[in-house]
Amino acid sequence: MNLPAQELEQAASRSSARPAHGPGERQEEPRMPAATAAKIVVQGLDAWFGASTVIKKVSIDVPEKSVMAVIGPSGCGKSTFLRCLNRMHELTPGAGASGRLLLDGEDLYGRDVDPVRLRRRVGMVFQRPNPFPTMSIFDNVAAGLRLNGVAGDHAEVVERCLRQAALWDEVKDRLREAATGLSGGQQQRLCIARALAVEPEVLLMDEPASALDPIATAKVEDLIHELKERYTIVIVTHNMQQAARVSDRTAFMYLGELVEFDETDRIFTAPANRRTQDYITGRFG
Ligand SMILES: Nc1ncnc2c1ncn2[C@@H]1O[C@H](COP(=O)(O)OP(=O)(O)O)[C@@H](O)[C@H]1O
Ligand SMILES: [Mg+2]
Repeated sequence: MNLPAQELEQAASRSSARPAHGPGERQEEPRMPAATAAKIVVQGLDAWFGASTVIKKVSIDVPEKSVMAVIGPSGCGKSTFLRCLNRMHELTPGAGASGRLLLDGEDLYGRDVDPVRLRRRVGMVFQRPNPFPTMSIFDNVAAGLRLNGVAGDHAEVVERCLRQAALWDEVKDRLREAATGLSGGQQQRLCIARALAVEPEVLLMDEPASALDPIATAKVEDLIHELKERYTIVIVTHNMQQAARVSDRTAFMYLGELVEFDETDRIFTAPANRRTQDYITGRFG
């Protein structure tokens, strides 16, 4: 988006001066959880592809070392929202965003922010495990370090990250074998290890378990619990039980808007908005 500072200021003042929705729609305003020290702050985010705006005035904050789940029907903008958080969205030709995105209080779209460095701080794991197919297990984990020009043999980092990703015991005797020989669930944990190797602060996970069987899914969910001790995690899932199991807070999006954002327990037991209620009880989506 590369907004000039002046426009950013305007966007920020717009988002604070104006409710997210027009007057007369008060009950439709998303309920927000109690404020806490935030790792990520999003204010009045719009995102578009060409003429089509797919994220509309979304405001959210994510406390450090917590898990936020983003739920909502297919096409409602979950992936786009995630991709705004590490500036991948702007890599799509014709795509852009406006509003305010802060990481530790620093404007992600500030002029002096290098998007490549930012993506090291804000790592991403995708729906389909995507290990580098020609590389060994070891080299997959070391790849990010090498790309960033970090010298050394990386053995320590590779072991640490494979342990953190709960994969070490399964692969320690075959580190030089091709990553493609692993099962889908192992490949996904390998991709998580690869993301951890560059020491990110935030992990974005876009339906990280939707291509996995139930046992592999449970492993990834356990892993999320452990990673939360060190990282701030934003996970997109359309598995409602998964959102309820892994997250502290849940955001429900619909047609590009944030309908409701609250503590996960409340979203799943006493949602404030009827559309949230309908969605979590399977009445649409
Ligand atoms: N590369 C793209 N070009 C144009 N439109 C896109 C592109 N990617 C996604 N969209 C549109 O943006 C909207 C939100 O998509 P997405 O963020 O992928 O939703 P979700 O992850 O919730 O399924 C959808 O209407 C989708 O069709
Ligand atoms: Mg998606």
